[in-house]
Amino acid sequence: MKLLVTGGAGYIGSHFCKTAAAEGHEVITYDNLSTGHKDFVKWGEFIEGELSDSKKIQDVLTSQNIDAVVHFAAKAIIAESNKHPDMYYENNVEGTRSLLWAMSMAGTDKILFSSSCTTYGITDEAFISEDHIQAPINPYGDTKKACEEMVIDFQDSFPGKEAGILRYFNVVGCDPEGELWEWHDPETHIVPNMIRAGLENRPVMIFGDDYDTRDGTCVRDFIDVNDLAKIHLKALDQLNTENVFISNIGLGRGYSLYDLKTIIEDVLELKVKHEVVGRRQGDPPRLVADCQFFKSWYSEELSDLKASLKNIKDTGLAEKFLPVELR
Ligand SMILES: NC(=O)c1ccc[n+]([C@@H]2O[C@H](COP(=O)([O-])OP(=O)(O)OC[C@H]3O[C@@H](n4cnc5c(N)ncnc54)[C@H](O)[C@@H]3O)[C@@H](O)[C@H]2O)c1
Repeated sequence: MKLLVTGGAGYIGSHFCKTAAAEGHEVITYDNLSTGHKDFVKWGEFIEGELSDSKKIQDVLTSQNIDAVVHFAAKAIIAESNKHPDMYYENNVEGTRSLLWAMSMAGTDKILFSSSCTTYGITDEAFISEDHIQAPINPYGDTKKACEEMVIDFQDSFPGKEAGILRYFNVVGCDPEGELWEWHDPETHIVPNMIRAGLENRPVMIFGDDYDTRDGTCVRDFIDVNDLAKIHLKALDQLNTENVFISNIGLGRGYSLYDLKTIIEDVLELKVKHEVVGRRQGDPPRLVADCQFFKSWYSEELSDLKASLKNIKDTGLAEKFLPVELR
């Protein structure tokens, strides 16, 4: 297939481009480099552009004869969304509307949309299934939910549209050949932050140890970024015109932040100090996927957290989590 990858210069998008190219697909990255890296665009053409530029996207879709759009581009920092909800609605919601409109005008049928477990909000369920109520507790999650609704509405209104909504849980890991890694500035994700704190011999902040969980810290479910890339390729095959395809993407295994710290110390042979500070606004206590539906359409073996971390160690990429001047 010929794929337009929005956000292809970012963490997940760049891993997807590498995997898709290796499987014989042609990828074109469309990205404004707001959080992505030009150096990560190594497979296929790069077009610098804004999601809001509907006309430009339409021209690309038409002139390049694109078969499907894989839509990763978004702002995705919960704390930033709490401070600047306007920016999140403009970038994520208005940006996605503009993209969907361009697709409709160009007659591009297929889209995969990157959604998030954040859309579920706080739940008592140990494992969250796709039909669980979506009640996000931060503006980032609100924008993802709004985008999901838009994707569904566009699919309903423009017959023939085929849409997939993938709700990722926490994404972890790096390219096994060491060409790509998780590189956000600021980094808000717990795995790179724990590794970085260990390397810098300073404590990592644990936001709250008084949640109603086994050891009081938040519990998360981790999916490997390389598996996630392959899952997208399989999801493209799953699309059909009758239903919007909605699936959780996780392992269905919950790790508390203290579990995670122990595993990082063990696998990366690193001492990680920690300091407990107050809860962070917008963090649900437990987010673990019910994978029943996911496993019904994806049967390949998935890496567990230890394997993802071992990969980071073996590639020597751990030091990439340090600020550029300390690498
Ligand atoms: N990383 C995770 O654990 C996780 C979990 C759930 C969902 N997601 C979703 O997956 C997607 C990718 O996440 P990521 O971690 O790779 O983030 P990222 O910040 O590394 O990548 C996002 C990319 O989108 C680009 N972008 C942002 N706004 C744009 C715009 N208006 N126009 C053009 N390009 C734009 C950025 O420059 C960047 O390259 C996001 O939609 C995110 O919400 C990520």
